[in-house]
Amino acid sequence: MLNFNYSIQTKIFFGKGKIDVLADNIKKYGSKVLLVYGGGSIKKSGLFDKITDIFNKNDIKFFELSGVEPNPRITSVRKGIEICRENNVDIILAVGGGSVIDCSKAIGAGYYYKGDAWDIVLDSRKITKVLPIATILTLAATGSEMDSGAVISNLETNQKLPTFNEGMAPKFSILDPTNTFSVPKNQTAAGTADIMSHIFEVYFSNTNEAYMQNRMAEALLKTCINYGQKAMADPTNYEARSNLMWTSSLAINGLLSYGKETEWSVHAMEHELSAFYDITHGVGLAILTPHWMEYALNDKTVDKFVEYGVNVWGLELSGDKYEIARNAIKRTREHFVKLGIPTSLKSIGINEEKLETMAKQATARGKIGSFKPLDANDVINIYRSSL
Ligand code: NZQ
Ligand code: ZN
Repeated sequence: MLNFNYSIQTKIFFGKGKIDVLADNIKKYGSKVLLVYGGGSIKKSGLFDKITDIFNKNDIKFFELSGVEPNPRITSVRKGIEICRENNVDIILAVGGGSVIDCSKAIGAGYYYKGDAWDIVLDSRKITKVLPIATILTLAATGSEMDSGAVISNLETNQKLPTFNEGMAPKFSILDPTNTFSVPKNQTAAGTADIMSHIFEVYFSNTNEAYMQNRMAEALLKTCINYGQKAMADPTNYEARSNLMWTSSLAINGLLSYGKETEWSVHAMEHELSAFYDITHGVGLAILTPHWMEYALNDKTVDKFVEYGVNVWGLELSGDKYEIARNAIKRTREHFVKLGIPTSLKSIGINEEKLETMAKQATARGKIGSFKPLDANDVINIYRSSL
């Protein structure tokens, strides 16, 4: 196992009715809040009214930034920073999925930065301090509720980039699975695929001896496989929603990746698809993943795919290794089909035209991934096979 420093700072309040802790925990940081949300799902579900009632009853003053887009834009970040500065906001409360949370994190970091907020996305070393962030999660997917990353899009430059700072990790997150009951089927599927991809990115690694992390990763993958379809078929199934929600947080909060070399190449490839075509993150990942697996399968990696097939899909450990590995990949592809996710780039409007540009941009800082390092040519090959 590689050396690591363990630090997961986000306090989690998990379960039905946990919104009760909101006022007391906000007050630890002040009484002026920027309430950030998306296109209106929290108004439809009644969550907005619950939160504003709590604020009003507890003398918490709030300002609003609404309309944060899926694949959040730098323009929304700039708007949020302005509101925070004009009103001396003490804490930002993000209510929504990963997009709302990421936008809030970038606002918190941009608040203390003198130049344009896009600079801190391009270079996270420019982040010096971050306003406290809190979240009420409404969609199990990105794990942003418990990690220190934010992914922001710039439509003018066709870039979608991650930025990181420990200060961006939420101070606390309220995870009430009933807040995900209203998530539509397609977002439930995409979210489940995203969680699985976060696990794949750290599971497929050259660090074989991280036995414990590998077994935990397999348990989380099995949880997604077991509950993804159940949550789609029965959106108010608390058992399914709660298992997915907690898995979303644990998949990417560091627990699985401490002590390991990690991959993250499928995410790098997908972020280009979203940057140029504004597609749903989890859908892009589900399309690319089986093709990446096939591309990564070789004499050096085959044992890892066998381990995956046997421990996650229950395949029998006998016969040809490559057959087991290919079977595991097939099961992965079939699983995404069962979730109703499109299986080709063409079916979501992506054709040959920009593949080269996207591949160059994905590898602009050099090869991506370590389990199977990919250069621009490899990325084009994977994009082409996914068409
Ligand atoms: O905007 P509203 O009206 O809230 O609707 C949203 C949005 O349309 C809807 N939704 C969310 N909760 C709902 C709901 N609809 C009904 N009921 C609810 N309870 O779902 C749609 C998608 O929301 P979004 O926040 O975009 O989805 P997700 O959580 O998948 O976030 C995706 C973004 O996070 C980034 C992605 O790249 C993408 O930009 N990621 C962030 C990561 C991180 N910070 O660590 C890691 C990930 O790998 C990922 O890259
Ligand atoms: Zn992701």
